[in-house]
Amino acid sequence: MLPRKTILPFAKPDISEKEIESVKEVLLSGWLTTGRKTEEFEEALQSFCNVKYAIVLNSATAGLHLALRAFDIKKGDSIIVPAFTFTATAEVVFRCNAIPLLVDVDRNSYMISKEIIKNFIEQYCEFKNNQLIHLPTKTIIRGILCVHYGGRVCDIDSLKEIAKQYNLFLGEDAAHAFGSMYKNKKIGGLTDFSVFSFYATKNITTGEGGALTTNHKTIANKIRKMRLHGFDIETYKRKKHIYDVVTEGYKYNISDILSAIGLAQFNRHYEMLNKRKRIHEIYQTQFKKLDKIKLNPEEEGSSYHLYTIEISRRDEFIKYLNQNGIQTGIHFKPLYRMTYYKNKKLYNINNYPNCEEIYKNILSLPIYSAMSEEDIQDVVDAVTLAYENLYLKKNRKRFVLPFLSHK
Ligand SMILES: Cc1ncc(COP(=O)(O)O)c(C=O)c1O
Repeated sequence: MLPRKTILPFAKPDISEKEIESVKEVLLSGWLTTGRKTEEFEEALQSFCNVKYAIVLNSATAGLHLALRAFDIKKGDSIIVPAFTFTATAEVVFRCNAIPLLVDVDRNSYMISKEIIKNFIEQYCEFKNNQLIHLPTKTIIRGILCVHYGGRVCDIDSLKEIAKQYNLFLGEDAAHAFGSMYKNKKIGGLTDFSVFSFYATKNITTGEGGALTTNHKTIANKIRKMRLHGFDIETYKRKKHIYDVVTEGYKYNISDILSAIGLAQFNRHYEMLNKRKRIHEIYQTQFKKLDKIKLNPEEEGSSYHLYTIEISRRDEFIKYLNQNGIQTGIHFKPLYRMTYYKNKKLYNINNYPNCEEIYKNILSLPIYSAMSEEDIQDVVDAVTLAYENLYLKKNRKRFVLPFLSHK
């Protein structure tokens, strides 16, 4: 019921006694770093995603980086990445000394499509000796990293087609999409690799964490070694005193304490997903009545990670919501608008008409399983109130609550 007494955060983890018990068990076990609990978590992910290999890491960013290194992405290479994403998707390409080629996204899905990539290739590339050359940067395009925005899934089959046609790998930044389905199949084993995030705001969380899944044995083996210094054998499996370093290495492993949280969250996944789905449905039904709002795109199989709307005068709208105690997010400010990316002098804002239009109008509303019935109703009421004030000039009472606390 508005007015609220506390601020409704944009996201909040859903932690039960089960996670606490699970962590307690590890804390008392005598083994805190990567070990059997992580292995157990990996086995659970493998069977859930119907994929041969799952490797749990300390973030999705680590997973994306390791995947690119496992494909030997290096200076002189480039990767196709949507401009409408979080910086991690592209930053890892720079980390390999390669170039992320930012492309526009589809106006309705907010994601890349075969058509977008086809147009990009026709405009800027040449296919010679089974290699796709990006002419402006003189780099070899080695792969496509698609992003399943908000938990909705790109059209994987058509992306696979174009990847195959041009000898590219297809990887998925599935940071938002744990549990999402494509054509009635769980994602995770459908392309060359998928990377999930278990960051604090994600559908299942370990606080910080992520996982990479793949069906390629050699890629999985490389990544397993690279996640911990390139050791020949994982610490918890080592029987001898002397180890070898057999490949390049990073410190991207996860601790068993976090895997214990992950396993408990994993076991509650469907319960939490159903709550998100229900909130999504309530918002869609309620906001359909407000005809200047463009609703979150509907998509079968979504993980309902984000609930976005598009509305003109977006910043004023957000102000109303915030004044009523509803925190919001913006996903995403396109990467070519970020200072670091601008300084690269690689991207021209005029190439991204769809990103520009979406970015101008988009905002994300709270959607998570820890929301109460009152929280959900408050979001509906605050959106309706903001709408009536801004668009219907009803001048209904706005609750200005400077004293709201986060507790
Ligand atoms: C699309 C996308 N990719 C990658 C990441 C990075 O995830 P992590 O924080 O686990 O590294 C995020 C984080 O929110 C994201 O939104």
